[in-house]
Amino acid sequence: MSLLHSLRPALTRRLTAGSLSLALLGGFTALPAETRTHTTSSRTSDAEAEGFVDGLIGKMTLEEKVGQMSQVALNTPDGATRDERVLKGEVGSFLFVTDPKEINRLQHLAVEKGRLHIPLIFGFDVIHGLRTIYPVPLAMAASWDPEQVETAQRMAAREASSVGINWTFAPMVDIARDARWGRMMEGAGEDPFLGSRMAAAQVRGFQGEKIGSPDHILACVKHFAGYGAAEGGRDYDSANISDEQLWNVYLPPYAAAVKAGAGSVMTAYMDLNGVPATGNRWLLQDVLREKWGFKGFVVSDWESVKNLTTHGFSVDPKDAAVRAADAGVDMEMTSGTFRDDLPAAVRQGLVKESTIDEAVRDILLTKYKLGLFRDPYVSPERSAAELVSQAQREAARTAAERSAVLLRNEGNLLPLRGAKSIAVIGPLADSKPDTMGSWSLAGHPDDTVTVLEGIRKRFGASATVNSTTGVEIERAQPSIFDGQFESPKPTLTTDGQQETEFHHAIDLVKQSDVAVLVLGELQSMSGERASRSSLTLPGRQEELLEAAVATGKPVVLVLMNARPLDITWASAHVPAILEAWYPGTEGGNAVAALLGGDASPGGKLPVSWPRDAGQEPLYYSHNLTQIPNDPDTRYWDGSSAPLYPFGYGLSYTSFTVERLKTSAEQVKSGGKLTVSVELRNTGAVTGDEVVQLYTHQRSGSASRPVRELKGFQRLTLKPGERKTVELSLDTNDLGFWSPQTHRWSIEPGVFDLWVGTDSTAKEHTTFTVVQ
Ligand code: NOJ
Repeated sequence: MSLLHSLRPALTRRLTAGSLSLALLGGFTALPAETRTHTTSSRTSDAEAEGFVDGLIGKMTLEEKVGQMSQVALNTPDGATRDERVLKGEVGSFLFVTDPKEINRLQHLAVEKGRLHIPLIFGFDVIHGLRTIYPVPLAMAASWDPEQVETAQRMAAREASSVGINWTFAPMVDIARDARWGRMMEGAGEDPFLGSRMAAAQVRGFQGEKIGSPDHILACVKHFAGYGAAEGGRDYDSANISDEQLWNVYLPPYAAAVKAGAGSVMTAYMDLNGVPATGNRWLLQDVLREKWGFKGFVVSDWESVKNLTTHGFSVDPKDAAVRAADAGVDMEMTSGTFRDDLPAAVRQGLVKESTIDEAVRDILLTKYKLGLFRDPYVSPERSAAELVSQAQREAARTAAERSAVLLRNEGNLLPLRGAKSIAVIGPLADSKPDTMGSWSLAGHPDDTVTVLEGIRKRFGASATVNSTTGVEIERAQPSIFDGQFESPKPTLTTDGQQETEFHHAIDLVKQSDVAVLVLGELQSMSGERASRSSLTLPGRQEELLEAAVATGKPVVLVLMNARPLDITWASAHVPAILEAWYPGTEGGNAVAALLGGDASPGGKLPVSWPRDAGQEPLYYSHNLTQIPNDPDTRYWDGSSAPLYPFGYGLSYTSFTVERLKTSAEQVKSGGKLTVSVELRNTGAVTGDEVVQLYTHQRSGSASRPVRELKGFQRLTLKPGERKTVELSLDTNDLGFWSPQTHRWSIEPGVFDLWVGTDSTAKEHTTFTVVQ
């Protein structure tokens, strides 16, 4: 791939010969043997839409075409207003407009007053809800329940479409294996199989059966590609990914999202192996269009076209516009270089007009499919009824309950029983913005139920609930979302005030039967430009936790965060730990229901949980080398094993997994095996378990990971209930891109297979794949 990356983009969108060597991903769209030119016919959809759009393109000036390729956020520094730009046909899309009246007004300008009556497309980051905030995506992945995730995004789409938003910049499907990277929060974690299932589920949730389904919106899979591999976990830094890792780990969730029908793709900020993703013709043409058959349109990330100059890739903004358009960026987000420079570049022969036509065609076809040419308006009355409706709240609460992961429960401290007094302590216990999490720009803190409020409501009739913050978390740097929504500002300004508050909190713990400490990170510590070099609990939270435990009172730690944190001490001393993530609008009610046992935690970790930031990047699916898998040989000063493994999570009941069987000992390449186990609820309450299937290929043309997730199913069982769980193992999922053969194939041989309840699953057998 490095050779392909070094090919300077040509001035046509023709397929490069090098791309013929590209591998297949999981049997997805095969590349024909002969070189294909990138004709418009490779990007077609139904005839009626095409006829309409082609007719329209025939009437458009070059400036109007480039206008369709331009997305605007706010008024631009040159002073032109939104309205002027729309009337001149200089805007194809807006982002960040969420008021239905303003959306209708702008649509009216475009459709009634614009020369060609072309509707606008309104995009917004509906990442985990619009006004009703669902748990952050990493949390939703922890549900290990794609149907649940699809439902949550369908509800989010319903709310968003009701205000006139047509397009979300989600799902984010970047694999994240380094917890220091703040945007781990927005994805599904470390694993390509889980990530692919979550990617497809979200696309279905946002878009419905097809683009243009009523009450749905267009999905945008991002950030293509490899953003999650930022060096050192530092946001925006380069991603250097081997071909093997790219094809086998980083690209599969994109392929799954495209296969599920995602109508748009966003480029990434960073360079992938030296070539900025926004100018990366290999990614945008050879992989996305030619190999995967993507038919939608590509949008850049925020100012990432102009920033091709920052990368030292383009000589100036005009060169940036030319190279981004030529690479395959169809719409530019915000930096305005397309609008300012592309028409002249076309006239000078630097970009072909056919390249512009292809881009405009894909954008207009999408607008057509979304039904915007038929009816671009929304009803503000309908949206008022939809926003934070009862149905939305119920869905958000279920999502939060199903996302929580129980990490520890010594002596079955949870669910709480019989406590007459509860101390709810911590800087996040009653913080509405932090309960919502990052990327909840249209959320209203006032709609949000905090953990303290939830506990008061759930336990208030039977227990005295006392609360205080104990400590505050100071932000090290301003958030990029400052002014939009913020965590409460520290009010304890002197050391004396801080000491008094700390002691007050510990006194409350002493006076109570049980203490619930709600600790973690401010929402602004996760997300964009929110990477951390350490994973410790920020501020004096660890000290507070240790002091609370030292009182001898039972302590429950509720974590609010969106990356693993260093809780090594807590994992040995705090009897109960519930990972609630940033649980959203109904988060407090969901946490209270879980603490009270009205709901049972059943989530599982979508990431390996480190003991220390020094272990990062940490992931279960590593290769074996030299000395067999002994975690004590990898570091001189500590274990290399995670604190909690990928796939881990407890329940209020217990389960056994037994009687592992496969439908055959041998399976033909391309065929399927049925794997069955008996799952039994051996405890006293109803609970959920996620049965997980892992495989390992013993030998082949390349070393393969010690274990790879290849199947899972979440189930609910009553006390004493047994169920035979059948998981289908498709040998196509055993294929991989080999760095020796430079091809994707299923290699015959012996495989280990484990089934269990996390990535250390013990039930084991083997099977053989034959040609
Ligand atoms: C930049 C982020 O990287 C991207 O994920 C987001 O969709 C855009 N800004 C628009 O907000």
